[in-house]
Amino acid sequence: SSLDKKKVYTSKFNELFLSNDVPKNITVFDTTLRDGEQTPGVALTCDDKIRIAKALDELGVNVIEVGFPASSQGEKDAAKAIMNLGLNSKVCGLARSVKSDIDAVADCGLNYVHTFIATSDSHLKYKLKMTQDEVLERAVSAVEYAKSRGLEVEFSCEDATRTSLEFLKKMHIAVQEAGVNRINVPDTVGTISPIAMEYLIRELKTVTKVPISVHCHDDFGMAVANTLSAVRGGAEQIHATINGMGERAGNASLEEAVLALMAFYNAETTINTKMIGPTCKLVSRLFGYPIPANKAIVGKNAFAHESGIHVHGVLNDPSTYEAFGPELVGVERNIVLGKHSGTHSIKEKLNEYGVVLDDERIAQVVDKIKDLADSGKEIDDAELVALASHFAEQH
Ligand code: KIV
Ligand code: ZN
Repeated sequence: SSLDKKKVYTSKFNELFLSNDVPKNITVFDTTLRDGEQTPGVALTCDDKIRIAKALDELGVNVIEVGFPASSQGEKDAAKAIMNLGLNSKVCGLARSVKSDIDAVADCGLNYVHTFIATSDSHLKYKLKMTQDEVLERAVSAVEYAKSRGLEVEFSCEDATRTSLEFLKKMHIAVQEAGVNRINVPDTVGTISPIAMEYLIRELKTVTKVPISVHCHDDFGMAVANTLSAVRGGAEQIHATINGMGERAGNASLEEAVLALMAFYNAETTINTKMIGPTCKLVSRLFGYPIPANKAIVGKNAFAHESGIHVHGVLNDPSTYEAFGPELVGVERNIVLGKHSGTHSIKEKLNEYGVVLDDERIAQVVDKIKDLADSGKEIDDAELVALASHFAEQH
């Protein structure tokens, strides 16, 4: 789907940077159930995973990474159960570049594996204790083995962005010769800048004929920006998680990355944007992680307006203070009452509840709300209606 451009009010300067070599069709690989589940303190039951997988399928993601089957019986059970749902999305499992991990994915009945091995000097020295040649050979054997088991294979050089470009290219060429279907480029520790990411993907494209994917972490708060830059560099797939859940500071947020790609680059995805709100709420609840109020797109405040000036503008035409309408992403607009509120918001709110007051009484209600707000009190809808009824009864 593409966004109806009449419904998004983005900066016209974006158009200056729409170039023809930016891929137009982007596939979305969701890793909420794998990297997202690696969020500290989160452990999902098989039922939780099934519910989230169904929601992701309805949202329209192309691939669901359901977990790491080799890691536990529960992960295997969830992978099998999700595979048996017969979803439209492809169902993928994670595997280190070892036979037994790849077998675990295939034995669950999945036909898509995401296999990886680290390639940066630091990971080779302190984690794997392997040489570059050994790592390359392990990756090639893993890809060949996964292909021999009939799997669609996506391969990642873990910590790619801290790996030498020369070795990274050598790895890409080698796994490609081994028959890989897609190569993912993880910014494992979130350490690359957006402009460097664009450069890196362009460089890798010179030796990579299969589609390139990108996987960004948010350690510097750059995961979504880096994801967009990778697409500018030629990446055709993005990895993302709902609400940006994931290790440490998390992964690129699916809702933010997808909407930005569609709004800024006119990219097409298969995402049904109206399902974003309900999916984010479900994931928040089952993960036990509240969505921050000021979170882009789905936070409680993302479409809340308090100041009188803003509310007046939005009530006349939402494009004054909204980049797009809440209905586009399946959430609601919220007019908040406080010391910045004006007559317009209060009248509008009361109308919603069928309370009609003359201007004099509205003015009294506004004064009262400002007094209360100045003394630190927030006014919810029920209190407003009670207050308005009180003034209405005084005459
Ligand atoms: O961030 C990362 O490097 C990963 C790998 C498993 C690809 O999640
Ligand atoms: Zn990751």
